Amino acid sequence: MEEHEKPSKYKSVALVIGITGIVGNSLAEILPSSDTPGGPWKVYGVASRPRPAWTDDLAIHYIQCDVSNEEETQEKLSTLNDVTHIFYVTCAKKLSESENCFVNGTMLRNVLKAVIPNAPKLKHICLQTGRRHYTGPMDSFVRVQPHDPPFLEDLPRLKLLNFCYTLEDVLFEEVRKKEGLTWSIHRPGAIFGFSPFSLMNIVGSLCVYATICKHEGKPLRFPGNRQAWDGYWDASDADLVAEHQIWAAMSRHAKNEAFNCSNGDVFKWKDLWKVLAMQFGIEDYGFEESEGKLSLVEMMKDKGPVWDEIVREKDLVPTKLNEVGAWQFADALFSGKSLLDSMNKSKEHGFVGFRNSKTSFSSWIEKMKTHKIVP
Ligand SMILES: NC(=O)c1ccc[n+]([C@@H]2O[C@H](COP(=O)([O-])OP(=O)(O)OC[C@H]3O[C@@H](n4cnc5c(N)ncnc54)[C@H](OP(=O)(O)O)[C@@H]3O)[C@@H](O)[C@H]2O)c1
Repeated sequence: MEEHEKPSKYKSVALVIGITGIVGNSLAEILPSSDTPGGPWKVYGVASRPRPAWTDDLAIHYIQCDVSNEEETQEKLSTLNDVTHIFYVTCAKKLSESENCFVNGTMLRNVLKAVIPNAPKLKHICLQTGRRHYTGPMDSFVRVQPHDPPFLEDLPRLKLLNFCYTLEDVLFEEVRKKEGLTWSIHRPGAIFGFSPFSLMNIVGSLCVYATICKHEGKPLRFPGNRQAWDGYWDASDADLVAEHQIWAAMSRHAKNEAFNCSNGDVFKWKDLWKVLAMQFGIEDYGFEESEGKLSLVEMMKDKGPVWDEIVREKDLVPTKLNEVGAWQFADALFSGKSLLDSMNKSKEHGFVGFRNSKTSFSSWIEKMKTHKIVP
């Protein structure tokens, strides 16, 4: 019998676009587990860089492919004819929102055009966007009034360019081409998770900031304003977001719907700041209003060589400061007031997962340490 004719030991086959990203990494850990709904799962994982060593233990078929390149995407993904589910958890960040719309729309379209006509068993596509669906890009706050939180899934789109809207429109257009193909859209807030390759990893960025403060014997100052320090916040644990997507892929109640995805509790950054300081053995930490709002972009701009020295001295996995620190994202997050969403729709449709955000924050810091990304 030919290899492709043998009955498969897998019940479902995932294609994860963005496998080394913050949620991609959680999907790569959770999907292959024996007790994951829909399993046993075979997992194809796509990213544009060569497979990094920190993914060695993951039971995935790694495919290096730049999905912004149409030809390469056709060549590498159109042959995956056993795929049953797509998890789209990637994005590109450009300088303007019109470029974001163009590049992100092209990436998703390239993937769907390569897979939909060639994977006869394809059933469902999970698309991850985010809370900027309700707020617009950070720099648009001055031009357009964002929706008032808590955000609900059926709020109308804001009247401005937003790559989340482009992604949805591309999804709706392509999904129509195959009868019975279903979709779900997942809108997390700030994600707490693990990935040294993420464009937006708040836990990882804060770990690196704390490591540098400790190394230089400086206090761990909170780089935000009073609203950010004192206000109520929520977060989205990366494993929870992965579970939410797997739930939507499997449940008939979640088909063709968009959902918020957050932990289901609130926290204050001043409480998590203490956790961060303790994890890195820093006694002098906190918020100094008199110093004005600090900027991580400013504070970190000359720290590349310091980070290289720490990596060498502590024998860490080799990384560059700009790979592991999303300073602009952190500055934007800490300069506004908190924007909460509602998980009622997910609960009403049958997803009752949750996380304790403080425990989640602490456990992802530990994972950064276990993988020797920080000391
Ligand atoms: N991170 C957050 O806190 C957060 C919060 C709310 C919403 N979101 C939303 O979630 C969505 C996904 O973002 P994310 O933050 O989860 O992603 P991420 O952590 O930055 O991960 C991106 C992944 O995609 C891969 N990738 C990037 N460009 C690629 C390309 N051209 N071809 C193939 N692979 C490529 C990256 O690996 P390579 O670099 O090797 O290609 C990486 O594996 C976005 O819409 C974002 O707005 C994120």
